[in-house]
Amino acid sequence: MQRSFLFVPAANQKAMVKAGQLGADALILDLEDGLAPPEKDMGRAAVIRFLRKRKDVPCPVLVRINANGSPLGQADIRAICTEQPGALVVPKVETAQHLQAVHDQMRAALAGTQKPIPALWAMIETPAGLLNLAAICRQGKALGLVGLIAGTNDLVHELRCANSPTRTPILAHLGQIILHARAFGLSALDGVFNDFSNADGFAKQARQGRAMGFDGKTLIHPSQIAPANLAFGPSANAIKQAKAIVRAFSYKKNAGKGAINISGQMFERMHLEAAHRLLAQLATENPTT
Ligand code: COA
Ligand code: MG
Repeated sequence: MQRSFLFVPAANQKAMVKAGQLGADALILDLEDGLAPPEKDMGRAAVIRFLRKRKDVPCPVLVRINANGSPLGQADIRAICTEQPGALVVPKVETAQHLQAVHDQMRAALAGTQKPIPALWAMIETPAGLLNLAAICRQGKALGLVGLIAGTNDLVHELRCANSPTRTPILAHLGQIILHARAFGLSALDGVFNDFSNADGFAKQARQGRAMGFDGKTLIHPSQIAPANLAFGPSANAIKQAKAIVRAFSYKKNAGKGAINISGQMFERMHLEAAHRLLAQLATENPTT
């Protein structure tokens, strides 16, 4: 499941201690924007300690490294790769060459070990990153790129647009991120919601992201996990409908049909495919159902 990815600033010891038990689908231990410059070395050491003790953490643990090509980013890659995080999250990806450079540094860091090169997530959060999405996705796939993350705070900042609750100024850009993720078979995560004490606002934005096609949302606070899991998880109605679609297509009379009638609504084989995907996702989350 990729409903809820919680950012955890690596320098925040209290947050790091409890992060694994909060019910997020994944953690992103952050070494980039969530840390002030004097905290960077201490944060990196904390990430290494966390990864070494990760067996008690029931979800994937990703690490967001510092900027491409910066000495900090390079030190992050050298130190973190050998600890085998679930993936590296690369901030401000603007070209496919950025990902190639990270991949080259990971390969160098792991040379002589039998350890696999970690997968990559690319944060798309600048105008250049948006313009180069196709090349980033196409070449990134060969470098272990598994998903895109909309970096909405940086995007709003770089575009100098309004940070509106409806996100009207950036909806087209979010759409581009989803479009490219789907075209290249990657996952897509929505950006963070800063106003973490506004539960209604969060729920609304999570539903908007879900409706646009995002697989899940990046989060900044524990209180956002349960609402994100709800918004991006399958609803009771969707599960009921998926089961009805699978059942109807399994009837002998529907065996050769492309489109069928279920209670006055048309369903095609693409809906059957989506129904199978939803039920498979559910089975992974809860093997007893
Ligand atoms: N992950 C894990 N635990 C977190 C957390 C997070 N992202 N954010 C808060 N917590 C913990 C706090 O440590 C606190 O723990 P406690 O009950 O043991 O004291 C508890 O949740 C309640 O936190 P709260 O007091 O409501 O907020 P705060 O003032 O401690 O923190 C922020 C607020 C915004 C500073 C904090 O949520 C944060 O740093 N979020 C992530 C920011 C980030 O990563 N930004 C970069 C990516 S966009
Ligand atoms: Mg950013």
